[in-house]
Amino acid sequence: MDRFFMPLVVLIVGVLFFCMVESQAQLAPALYVFGDSAVVSGNDNKLNTNGKANYAPYGIDFPAAGPTGRATNGFTIADFVAKSLGLQSPRPFLVVNTRTDRSYEGFNYASGLAGIRSETGTADHGVTLSMEKQIELFRKTVEEYLPSHFGAAELRKYLSKSIFLVIVGSNDYSHNYLSNQYKSSQIYDMKQFSDLLLDNLQSQLLDNLYHLGARKFVVFEMDAMGCEPGFLETVKPSKCGKRVNSYVETYNHKLGVMLQRAAKSVRNATFVLGKRYQLMNDLVANPTRFGLRDSANPCCSVSKSGLCVPNKAPCQDRKSRVFFDAIHPTEAVYKTIAAQCFNGDGLCVPMNIQQLTKK
Ligand SMILES: *[C@@H]1O[C@H](CO)[C@@H](O)[C@H](O)[C@H]1NC(C)=O
Repeated sequence: MDRFFMPLVVLIVGVLFFCMVESQAQLAPALYVFGDSAVVSGNDNKLNTNGKANYAPYGIDFPAAGPTGRATNGFTIADFVAKSLGLQSPRPFLVVNTRTDRSYEGFNYASGLAGIRSETGTADHGVTLSMEKQIELFRKTVEEYLPSHFGAAELRKYLSKSIFLVIVGSNDYSHNYLSNQYKSSQIYDMKQFSDLLLDNLQSQLLDNLYHLGARKFVVFEMDAMGCEPGFLETVKPSKCGKRVNSYVETYNHKLGVMLQRAAKSVRNATFVLGKRYQLMNDLVANPTRFGLRDSANPCCSVSKSGLCVPNKAPCQDRKSRVFFDAIHPTEAVYKTIAAQCFNGDGLCVPMNIQQLTKK
């Protein structure tokens, strides 16, 4: 008896232990991602847009898959955060077959030229998923996809423990307010426009995502656009564009205030602010402090749009570059941002993502 049962017992205990370790390794049930090219991962491949990044050299450092639609050489912030949470990278919602798919670790709704405003990015770039459309797809997820797997109470709990990552706003300037293809700058002054963006975003977070069950939000500041090679003042290549960054600073300041107010206005929700603006300024001014060398030049050959020219070999020293194309950082930068937000101190406030998962 003993000789027969002992190995079986060991096996069962082993399997149980493995399952426990596995489930413990997941710090949240799911990661849902909204936003623009900082987190885009393939939805645009299905859309009629010329903002796609689904060709080489994008994805050159992405394990096995290559060009997926991510606007960088490898992982995005969302991929790194998912990995730290013990989750698979949230797949782009538009490429998932929701009739046959059975995964519940979250989706990515991002689109490269997406904005808080629905008209953003549409002037000559074709179809994009604005925040409004992304939220519609999430509503579909909650109302049609998830209920086949969860009971009502279970679904509420699952959503309340999931992490909602939102990185949006830059296109509302670069592909709206600062572009003469849109009327925004004739209608609104800078202050009015930033107020409008924050009103819209607040409503998207509270009236929509919170209402659908989201409770744990990580909302990133707008990027230091004036520091991107595409915007850099040519005379002093290491200085960031002041006018553009002043718009960004105004918006970012108000974003912090809005999130604090939002936290007080609803129950059981936590709003984390991801302060990437100053970090990006520091990265550009002092790349060596972060183990990088070049913060002035795009790694790939770029076209007028700032995106990589297709199929041209990029630089070799991608691990020491700040920018992959003229707009988007390298995976190395995304890794730094994600790591600091996940378990660092000060980038994501009032708590990091690891602390957020314990709330
Ligand atoms: C807040 O959390 C409590 C305890 O889990 C719960 O009973 C209540 O329904 C929640 N309220 C909202 C609005 O989510």
